[in-house]
Amino acid sequence: MKTLAMPEAAVRDPMVPTPYVIESVRRETHDTFTLEMVPEDGTTRLNFKPGQFNMLYVFGVGEIPISISGDPAHPETLTHTTRAVGAVTKAMQRLKKGDVLGVRGPYGTQWPVEEAMGHDIVIVAGGIGLAPLRPIIYRVLSERERFGQVVLLYGTRSPSDILFKKELQRWGGSFGMDVFVTVDRGDQNWHGSIGVVTNLVRRAPFDPLNATAMVCGPEIMMRYCAHELAKRGVDQDRTYVSMERNMKCGIGLCGHCQYGPVFICKDGPVFRYDRIRGMFGKREI
Ligand SMILES: Cc1cc2nc3c(=O)[nH]c(=O)nc-3n(C[C@H](O)[C@H](O)[C@H](O)COP(=O)(O)OP(=O)(O)OC[C@H]3O[C@@H](n4cnc5c(N)ncnc54)[C@H](O)[C@@H]3O)c2cc1C
Ligand code: FES
Repeated sequence: MKTLAMPEAAVRDPMVPTPYVIESVRRETHDTFTLEMVPEDGTTRLNFKPGQFNMLYVFGVGEIPISISGDPAHPETLTHTTRAVGAVTKAMQRLKKGDVLGVRGPYGTQWPVEEAMGHDIVIVAGGIGLAPLRPIIYRVLSERERFGQVVLLYGTRSPSDILFKKELQRWGGSFGMDVFVTVDRGDQNWHGSIGVVTNLVRRAPFDPLNATAMVCGPEIMMRYCAHELAKRGVDQDRTYVSMERNMKCGIGLCGHCQYGPVFICKDGPVFRYDRIRGMFGKREI
């Protein structure tokens, strides 16, 4: 008798997490850490697109959405960078090498890498917002010749909140990317720019008429950046943002992240700005 072999993804229940073992824990700042994980079964591969997220389950505590911050060219290792703000993220911060997390995903929309080919790229990050943007930076740099000018504008509260410091230096040094970092408050060792990241948009070297912008950070920062980009001439249909709302299912079933006709988990988190600007400042139902 013949049996039909079903692909594993087709039979997997999307609500059942896959166990992943933590391979390394890296402390990025006082409240932010990066986990690198591999599947417990040694075979699962989570091919993902830059901008997508996973639902991470800390057993016995809860499940939350966290963007993937690793390199899409290396899906054998799953990388997430998280800021500890509440119950689940603080429990996650206590995990060690060898501990197990549940993973569902990858879910959601991606940064518009194909649409941006041939254009200048302006990446604007605020605080932890650099983590969801890191995969698109890896992707763009892996095919650097297919893009015009590439600019990263990054703002944090203080110098000690800057994420991925070594990579920022590397990217800015030899990869054909202009990197500008600003902080709200400097200290005695800080000789760089002071002020909000929006100020960097005004003077960054890119051609606004031929640029695609990707922005991630607190909502108010994304709104001001979109406004500033528009003032420089970047159309709102070439500006993309990544939205955050409380999520439960992550796959468009429960309605938790719904705003009007839009589900942030399945229609987002990455949206074209002109399509969702009315959602800013409004919480989910
Ligand atoms: C699609 C998506 C991708 C995300 N990607 C990331 C990521 O890559 N890295 C990351 O660190 N977070 C990310 N988040 C946010 C993350 O999901 C929340 O921080 C997390 O759900 C908080 O859970 P908690 O149980 O620790 O805190 P809760 O107990 O839910 O909240 C504790 C307190 O922190 C506040 N709070 C909750 N979320 C945030 C927040 N994002 N910023 C500031 N204060 C907050 C709450 O209002 C509350 O006061 C993402 C969210 C979404 C929707
Ligand atoms: S989280 Fe359930 S519909 Fe989006």
